[in-house]
Amino acid sequence: MKAMVYYGAGDIRFEERAKPAIIEPTDAVIRLTKTTICGTDLGIWKGKNPEIEQTVIQKAGKFNGRILGHEGIGIIEETGSGVKNFKKGDKVIISCVSRCGTCENCQKQLYAHCQNGGGWIMGYMIDGTQAEYVRTPFADNSLYRLPADLNEDVAVLLSDALPTAHEIGVQYGDVKPGDTVAIVGAGPVGMSCLLTAQLYSPSQIIMIDMDDNRLHMARELGATQIINSAKEDAVARVLALTNGRGVDCAMEAVGLSATWDICQRVVKEGGRLANVGVHGQSVNFELEKLWIKNLTITTGLVNANTTGMLLKTCCSGKLPMEKLATHHFHFNELEKAYDVFKHAADQKAMKVIIDY
Ligand SMILES: NC(=O)c1ccc[n+]([C@@H]2O[C@H](COP(=O)([O-])OP(=O)(O)OC[C@H]3O[C@@H](n4cnc5c(N)ncnc54)[C@H](O)[C@@H]3O)[C@@H](O)[C@H]2O)c1
Ligand SMILES: [Zn+2]
Ligand SMILES: [Zn+2]
Repeated sequence: MKAMVYYGAGDIRFEERAKPAIIEPTDAVIRLTKTTICGTDLGIWKGKNPEIEQTVIQKAGKFNGRILGHEGIGIIEETGSGVKNFKKGDKVIISCVSRCGTCENCQKQLYAHCQNGGGWIMGYMIDGTQAEYVRTPFADNSLYRLPADLNEDVAVLLSDALPTAHEIGVQYGDVKPGDTVAIVGAGPVGMSCLLTAQLYSPSQIIMIDMDDNRLHMARELGATQIINSAKEDAVARVLALTNGRGVDCAMEAVGLSATWDICQRVVKEGGRLANVGVHGQSVNFELEKLWIKNLTITTGLVNANTTGMLLKTCCSGKLPMEKLATHHFHFNELEKAYDVFKHAADQKAMKVIIDY
């Protein structure tokens, strides 16, 4: 089968790989019908996650590449003998987080840190979904039946972008009615923060990015104000828009030192800073200014513990997620899709959907 394989920083190749097989009785093998590219995949490609090859080299001495991708929907091709809830032919949404359901962390719904070989592993610690087939561990607990009335582009966003934004941005950021919110990063994850934040009725949502096209879309999807941080001082503007007070909740959805800085400088006393972005480098944590502010700062990897709830919200039409699917490519054009997503501003791209 064809797959997009990561070999190290700056080196990904669209090439022929062996089709995956069942390894554990709780596995399923799925034939993909749609996948997509995440900002995290771009980060891996740029070299933000050298632990991918380092982990393998430590164990086996040699790294033979890792198939990227942790999002997608598909049709079950084969199930292991221990899979009870799904059978060949079922249409499913693949969660980016696999969970055993029984370890101490899974019992706390901290599925991101499943201790039995689950967590975010697909397209990271094991081969992922940017392929014709994928093996998903703990299938019973980690797949969702695809409802017939759900837009399939939206279904792909339920793998990662939507639960990440809702859990690590909005829930950890504790967005409440009347709150003022700033979201730094208007990519698919930041946009999903914008949409799910509105489920909690904040009074103001200020969206910050450097891409005018994405900011324009943010305005259409409910941002009360937009700021292009390449053209103006984002911190000064947020303070001006909040009577000099700053916001109740700032969400970081980029993963850079510069965007962390904006967040730590715009949260008001008693506020929350929810970091969602994957950081490849240290940030400057201005504790000398923050210690006095009674802040809550959260970080995290998505647990996908609200995926089921978000799925129902999407089916009800309350989240216009389909607007994020700006580009479609055939799987054979995956390299082109990467190129477009990498140059999202020039290409006016948001989420790039790959069809098979
Ligand atoms: N915590 C988690 O579980 C989790 C899960 C999924 C994704 N992520 C992370 O969330 C982040 C966003 O993902 P995405 O898919 O939306 O990525 P993306 O690359 O599409 O979006 C990033 C956005 O940040 C903007 N940006 C870049 N540099 C900026 C700067 N200096 N100032 C202002 N804006 C800037 C870009 O224009 C872009 O719109 C990534 O870091 C990704 O790795 C985290
Ligand atoms: Zn992702
Ligand atoms: Zn577990």
